[in-house]
Amino acid sequence: MSTTRHIFVMDPIESIRVDKDSTFALMLEAQRRGHEVLYGLVEDLYMRKGVARSVVRTAHLEPVQGAHARLGEPQDMALADADIVWMRKDPPFDMGYIFNTYLLDLAAQQTLVVNHPAGLRAFNEKAWAMAFPALVPESLITQDQPRLRAFADELGAVVVKPLDGNGGEGVFVLRSDDPNIGVILETSTRHGRRKVLAQRYLPEARQGDKRVIVIDGEPRGACLRVPSGVDHRGNIHAGARVVPAVVDDRDREICAAIGPMLRDAGQIFVGIDVIGGWLTEVNVTSPTCLHEIDAFDRVNLEGEILDAALARRRAS
Ligand SMILES: Nc1ncnc2c1ncn2[C@@H]1O[C@H](COP(=O)(O)OP(=O)(O)O)[C@@H](O)[C@H]1O
Ligand SMILES: [Mg+2]
Repeated sequence: MSTTRHIFVMDPIESIRVDKDSTFALMLEAQRRGHEVLYGLVEDLYMRKGVARSVVRTAHLEPVQGAHARLGEPQDMALADADIVWMRKDPPFDMGYIFNTYLLDLAAQQTLVVNHPAGLRAFNEKAWAMAFPALVPESLITQDQPRLRAFADELGAVVVKPLDGNGGEGVFVLRSDDPNIGVILETSTRHGRRKVLAQRYLPEARQGDKRVIVIDGEPRGACLRVPSGVDHRGNIHAGARVVPAVVDDRDREICAAIGPMLRDAGQIFVGIDVIGGWLTEVNVTSPTCLHEIDAFDRVNLEGEILDAALARRRAS
């Protein structure tokens, strides 16, 4: 039997941090198992005669920053010639990202794409969770500024966030008597032309934003991102510290509700965010925190993810 071949579609490998990057952890795990690891950029994806293809290079990896990837010669290949294609491009989730998923759709007809591209489009990281009102903080999606003001008046304190943001970008905490409320709502809704998510402000956010890694619908590990300094956001990009956390009963309840749908839609590697027991995000595009949880809990989440993907591949 020939070796298992992976293509990792991702951001430029030169600029990743080997001790932080979850894609690198997955690549190393595949290499450890003797699999063939190929690397490509979204820029190199293309379609010809109905076949999604890419220019890829073999990658020999070492967990040594700066010398972490030795790349082979560029080769042109159908994505379906790989056993597993990993879509690990970081957000922004914009039209460019969506166009790439159309090519991945073609590949997914013939091979395993993780996560499944149709799900990458369907599961908006913030809006999809709204289908589970018992799990999410009280929320409003609208572009109507008076409606947003009324919501803030009703709840006293809310957060307002873009539906396509990440890394805490554009996430405002807003009190109903904030003299900036008008300008913040104008800015975030672009003068009423764009929908935003407003949500009850959860004071537990000060203790941290929990990331739960969900593999094939099951919660497998967690960590907590604790805001540092005055910034309210529990995002690593906003300086949050990562500390250990356990998967608790509420996390299991959340996963029991949403896990089967994620699994059935081929969302094998997902990261959900939970603040004070409330589900705030379902990250399907390129979840992170594997290194941190592996180190805290002495587990090998990338191994579990690879196992889940390989089982899926064999079953197909
Ligand atoms: N409902 C909320 N109550 C309090 N803080 C929140 C709430 N929603 C988000 N935050 C804070 O804002 C940060 C970023 O929000 P999030 O919804 O996770 O968006 P992003 O995709 O940008 O990470 C969170 O880590 C948390 O600190
Ligand atoms: Mg977040």
